Amino acid sequence: MYNEKIMEHFNNPKNVGELDDANGIGQVGNPVCGDIMKLFIKVEKDRIVDIRFKTLGCGAAIATSSMITELVKGKTVEEASQVTKETVAEALGGLPPAKMHCSNLAADALNKAIADYQEKESDES
Ligand code: FES
Repeated sequence: MYNEKIMEHFNNPKNVGELDDANGIGQVGNPVCGDIMKLFIKVEKDRIVDIRFKTLGCGAAIATSSMITELVKGKTVEEASQVTKETVAEALGGLPPAKMHCSNLAADALNKAIADYQEKESDES
């Protein structure tokens, strides 16, 4: 059901864990299945210099989480905010249709983490 690339990210997920010095955190739950993802970003000079995730979810949720961290690490906040669930699914070589809803988690958590960062930034200025 899953292609090799997805299995690779599932078996060996990148950037797993938490970031103590994160300045943006996003947590989302998937209403379809109840799975949860938490994403931590560290932004410096408008660029995502570090990122970690924790996902309590299925294989597709873990693979998309891992993939999104790789896609946005080093990108500006603006560039990262343009990454969608379709971008992630495409980078993984496609998800089985029944699993597309799982890629919402990663994209939504990233958007929330960016919004959290932007809110903190505007509080400080
Ligand atoms: Fe819940 Fe995939 S089944 S995120």
